[in-house]
Amino acid sequence: MKKIIIANWKMNPNSLEEAKDIFEGIKSGAKGINAEVVACPPFTYLAGLKGLTLGGQNIFYEEKGAYTGEISAQMLKNLGCKYVLIGHSERRKYFNETDEDVNKKLKSAVSVGLIPIFCVGETEEERNAGKAEEVVERQIKIGLAGIENWKLKIENLVLAYEPVWAIGTGNACSVDDAKKMLEFIKKIKDVSVVYGGSVNGENAKSYIKEAGYDGLLVGGASLRPEEFVKIIRESI
Ligand code: PGA
Repeated sequence: MKKIIIANWKMNPNSLEEAKDIFEGIKSGAKGINAEVVACPPFTYLAGLKGLTLGGQNIFYEEKGAYTGEISAQMLKNLGCKYVLIGHSERRKYFNETDEDVNKKLKSAVSVGLIPIFCVGETEEERNAGKAEEVVERQIKIGLAGIENWKLKIENLVLAYEPVWAIGTGNACSVDDAKKMLEFIKKIKDVSVVYGGSVNGENAKSYIKEAGYDGLLVGGASLRPEEFVKIIRESI
């Protein structure tokens, strides 16, 4: 199966012009490479970027209606998105998203045919308390409650293991710990699993070749086309 390399730009950059520069840089560098390269820009740039697979960074779970400021799964689908990030730790932390909210969002995404990139991962305190696996298992089980056999085929779900303490810190997870968690996750749900958290051009390869991940979810480094292209090349 093709490796899935996902760019999560978060709330960057400030203009469509800059977004196009980054996007075109990735596009030309990734040309001809046999990987599923997915760009997840802010919503406002989705319509202006063409030529790579697109994903949204979030959705609201209701179909439509009086929910000022929100974006539905169908809206992303109609814009041509194939994927959507669901349950990113920044959404859980800053916007108080619960496992139950994540469950509703996953259902909504799947119901319109978007492939969720379902993010899970423990905080530093949870890891230090020996609870990393327990937390990840809870997030997956509640997240997928009621949809295990409901329009959810294996190819219609990607799990992302992103230890919260490794995101944006430069303190990436060790390959050993990442590998252990991957084996644990695959026992719960045998789907594609990507690793995220301070991935860069130097460490990308080890998560794929040594730990055995099916791809990567990249934040900071995905805004630097040269480095992101290196990550893609190292991963195939
Ligand atoms: P990072 O972010 O690569 O900057 O650590 C990853 C993510 O949050 O998806």
